Amino acid sequence: MAPLTSIRTSEGKLEIVNQLLLPHTTEFITIETIEHAHHVIEAMKIRGAPAIASLAALAVASHLEKALKQSPSPAYLSSPIALKGHIQPILDFLYTARPTAVNLGVATRRLSNRLQTSVKEGKDVRAVAEDVIAEAKAIDAEDVSRNKRMAKWGGDWLLEETEKCGRAPENLNVMTVCNTGSLATSGYGTALGLITYLHETGKLQKAYFTQSTPYHQGSRLTALELQTLGIPSVMLCDSMVGSLFQHHEIAAVVVGADRIASNGDTANKVGTYNAAVLAARHKIPFIVVAPVSTVDLDIPDGTHIPIEHRPPLEARLVRGALYPFITNAEGLKEQATVMVTPEGLEGVYNPSFDVTPAELITAIVTEKGVAVKRDGSASFDLSTIV
Ligand code: MRU
Repeated sequence: MAPLTSIRTSEGKLEIVNQLLLPHTTEFITIETIEHAHHVIEAMKIRGAPAIASLAALAVASHLEKALKQSPSPAYLSSPIALKGHIQPILDFLYTARPTAVNLGVATRRLSNRLQTSVKEGKDVRAVAEDVIAEAKAIDAEDVSRNKRMAKWGGDWLLEETEKCGRAPENLNVMTVCNTGSLATSGYGTALGLITYLHETGKLQKAYFTQSTPYHQGSRLTALELQTLGIPSVMLCDSMVGSLFQHHEIAAVVVGADRIASNGDTANKVGTYNAAVLAARHKIPFIVVAPVSTVDLDIPDGTHIPIEHRPPLEARLVRGALYPFITNAEGLKEQATVMVTPEGLEGVYNPSFDVTPAELITAIVTEKGVAVKRDGSASFDLSTIV
């Protein structure tokens, strides 16, 4: 079975899979407006840094495509300047949907630059709109081939490193955190792409993945993707990483990223830092896989990365299908949201991401290749790859 992708476009319709209902219910939501796109990103019906950037871009494309077909034309299609005045606030608004993933800002900035350049070139308003639409579609389309390149760079590098350490580069056990697969991107995935590549080349024994509470991106989404791809996998609770490293041979920890500072400090799903500390203790290579667009050269280190804190209520709830399963009249499994804390609990710490210092990261893989630290250095020099 082909893996689910998070976004689907056909005949002018833009749809996402509601990731809050996966893995038991596959519901497609049609994105009607810019406000709707903002809402589904904020509510995490779609999540994963590259996927939210793609959706924001495609929502702008869909908005413009509808406008070009409208009769009479909306006022903002009266001139290139009017169009610019209409689109720029939309881009600024979309960028506010989630603060940590820099890819969203990169996508909206890229559309803004395209808009300004086309206006400066003196194009007519329709041509400007078409340029922005084409740029938005390119943002989405580029993602899959870039992911495949990263997977190969990172996978081959890991095999070589394993061999250099005197171990056979086969039957590798690799652990990951959160969900970085086709649901988090436009397809194939970043860290999960690397794992898929190892599986496709016959080098993987098992993929271990953490549940990634409180949203359970691991137990709900990564579990589903690995199952769909037929990749042997084992889930563990977030608190069991140390135990796993003590009792099993793990060749590498491979994770995605939401923002990488210029020294290599990396923000990713909360729990990534814990895994990195434990990986260092057990001398397990810790690999970050992310497109160049995740590297933010404007910030020197991880202390400047804005960390999103989710509403406290979200950490007190577990969402899923009722078990034993109860099927409703439409043949769908009944879903439930269950509160696990005492009512009235007030103190909840709920950051969505943490920052892993570069010191704990062995390699950063982008579509341009594999970056490692110079001997003795605690940080990366990423300026050359961006
Ligand atoms: O809160 P989420 O689910 O959007 O967090 C996702 C992650 O942390 C991913 O690892 C990251 O966005 C990279 S996805 C290719």
